[in-house]
Amino acid sequence: MIEITIDEKKVSVETGTTVLEAARSAGIEIPTLCAHEGLVREGSCRLCSVEVTERGKTKLVMSCMYPVTREGLEVRTDTDRVRSARRFVLQMLADRNPKAPVLQALCSRYGVVPNVPENVEPELCIRCGRCVRACETNGTSALSFAGRGWEREVTPPFHEAPGDCVGCLSCAEVCPTGRITWEEKDGKRSIWGRTFDLVVCDRCREAYATAEQLRHAGTDPETARLCPRCRKTAQQERIRLGNRGV
Ligand code: SF4
Ligand code: SF4
Ligand code: FES
Repeated sequence: MIEITIDEKKVSVETGTTVLEAARSAGIEIPTLCAHEGLVREGSCRLCSVEVTERGKTKLVMSCMYPVTREGLEVRTDTDRVRSARRFVLQMLADRNPKAPVLQALCSRYGVVPNVPENVEPELCIRCGRCVRACETNGTSALSFAGRGWEREVTPPFHEAPGDCVGCLSCAEVCPTGRITWEEKDGKRSIWGRTFDLVVCDRCREAYATAEQLRHAGTDPETARLCPRCRKTAQQERIRLGNRGV
């Protein structure tokens, strides 16, 4: 374990823990946009910037990407320089995405007023890449970034309904802005221009996955009778009955 200081609080962490994780373990909040638990970190938004002092040198780093490797690291999460760096990031994002609730909340906290240029159409995507990484993590890779600069966007290949998509909703669940929408109706789920059959749990009657999602996980949708929650409950019931010798 290594002892570091975050906002004058002593914190012990394992080598390699990021400054962001260390701060969270000590109950110190750092705002983030592109980082998400369970996804590979990318360090694309820079909102999580903090000041670190190491061997007498102070610099601004991205806390989600910066590993703690030495005893005595000093971290400051709320200095004028940090707040100014966050305001800069927020201004750029909010000028293009003034309607994203997550940005509105952060802008109000950091005193940023969106200033949308006349020729820019407001939108919701902040190019954080969470959706792309979530889809990659599932092993489906149905989404990617296309274009450069202002034109950069998340899209399926060739802007067509993605053949590799299994309708799992992971991309929509991790999107911080609500940019990715889907619909469920009459036993079907539609997302990214594709429509999937939903599989209903025999026990709770909830639609819990798409048939493609189950196939992708190596399960035959015809035999997957119970959702994960009911399967767990059924298993616990079996164990209880077994213990009673029934
Ligand atoms: S719904 Fe489709 S695009 Fe979204 S994460 Fe799942 S497989 Fe990827
Ligand atoms: S669609 Fe959502 S998750 Fe994907 S890059 Fe845009 S804001 Fe991020
Ligand atoms: S949350 Fe760290 S760079 Fe985006």
